[in-house]
Amino acid sequence: MLKTDNSSPGDGDQVSGHGMWSSKMAFILAATGSAVGLGNIWRFPYVTAENGGGAFVLIYLLCIAVIGIPLLMSEILLGRAGRHSPINSLKLLAQRSKRTWRWMFVGVLGALIGWMILSFYSMVAGWTLAYSWHYLGEIFATAPPAFDPQGKFGGLLASPGALIFWLTAFILLSLGVVALGVEKGLERAVRILMPMLFALLLIMVGYGMSTGFFQQTISYLFSPDFSKVDGNTILQALGQAFFSLSLGMTGIMAYGAYVPRDVPIGRTAATIALADTGVAVLAGMAIFPIVFANGLATGEGPGLIFVTLPYAFADMSYGSFFGFGFFLLLAVAAWTSAISLMEPAVAFLSESKRFTRVSAALVVGAATWVLALGSVFAMNIWSGFTIAGKNFQELLEYVASNLLLPLGGLTTAVFVGWALSRVIAREQLSELSESRYQLWRFLVRYVAPILVFVVFLSAAGVI
Ligand code: PFF
Repeated sequence: MLKTDNSSPGDGDQVSGHGMWSSKMAFILAATGSAVGLGNIWRFPYVTAENGGGAFVLIYLLCIAVIGIPLLMSEILLGRAGRHSPINSLKLLAQRSKRTWRWMFVGVLGALIGWMILSFYSMVAGWTLAYSWHYLGEIFATAPPAFDPQGKFGGLLASPGALIFWLTAFILLSLGVVALGVEKGLERAVRILMPMLFALLLIMVGYGMSTGFFQQTISYLFSPDFSKVDGNTILQALGQAFFSLSLGMTGIMAYGAYVPRDVPIGRTAATIALADTGVAVLAGMAIFPIVFANGLATGEGPGLIFVTLPYAFADMSYGSFFGFGFFLLLAVAAWTSAISLMEPAVAFLSESKRFTRVSAALVVGAATWVLALGSVFAMNIWSGFTIAGKNFQELLEYVASNLLLPLGGLTTAVFVGWALSRVIAREQLSELSESRYQLWRFLVRYVAPILVFVVFLSAAGVI
């Protein structure tokens, strides 16, 4: 039975069998761990390249500021006010606000999107594991390694066995942490490893500066050419903003359930968004100089970092060492994100009597593994099967990231802005001044839903 916690969410309240982040910093680290991942370092550069650079980046930044931060605040407050898994929190809060319990389907949608994203996410995270293993081998190799980044990446994709091996390893790692409970291992891992990733990224940017193509990169990333913008570009920017901030699929809401009462939500959300955006922009500044310096194609697609970064590592002294560190830390960043993709479904299942946390994590992990096989085969034996020019993995990524995440965000915004009791919202955001609170309310009631809706219409060609 669900514990209907009607007490005011006071201090020390236990969350239906889960623990609590030990401090404000612990939550910031965990939420940043969720936000910073493959979305910043793998996806941001290639989606930016596919959408022509500067104008896309600008629209992306706008989406983060106007929709991302208010929604991040909304998800945290819903989690903390509900103190259960997102599905049950939404049900509970709807009932407390005298609304229909059916709002819980926003949570069901979120858990499903998490499952879809986690499937292809795990495959790509598997690539990072495979690359760290490769560089580890290079460190100890006696003969200089053969240099063929395109061939090496192609070889990995062509081998279902290798892809399945690394993806399985990654799912097991993620499942392990989720089964233990997110507060335990995660907090410690994130505290040490995230700053290391950041430092390594700075070294890569430093290398980028030395290539002589840094100026070109800056203008590529920041000088907008609006003639390239259409409805689909905006949809992609919006989708990337949601993906990168872990929004629209209730992952942050799930973490919000463990947030202590005294954490100021507004400032925390802004910090998370800033860190996340900083990492994405740094990744762009690290990768594009290498692309330009080596005359590589920007439109490489999902393989972009896997075929460009090896050029830099081959050129640097101690390159194998850096290559190993970079891909390993990227795998860790993906790991801390994958955990939050699993958490909504696992938290929900483990709230019912039928599942323990461990069995819930096993069920979600197994379901993810099965769906991930679709993405694996899309790289090789099923590569010929396409719909609208997209293979299974590309289709899944497009539908989940660009359509379903914004849809999840839209429904969350409508719930918070229009259905949730104002008393609950104001209490959760009690640290905000009245004017800031009103600004937040205006953004979630009007700006976020209307903008997302208009972007949908425009991408669908209706306007
Ligand atoms: N934000 C993660 C990234 O940028 O890699 C991906 C992600 C994690 C998306 C968790 C959604 C989520 F709930």
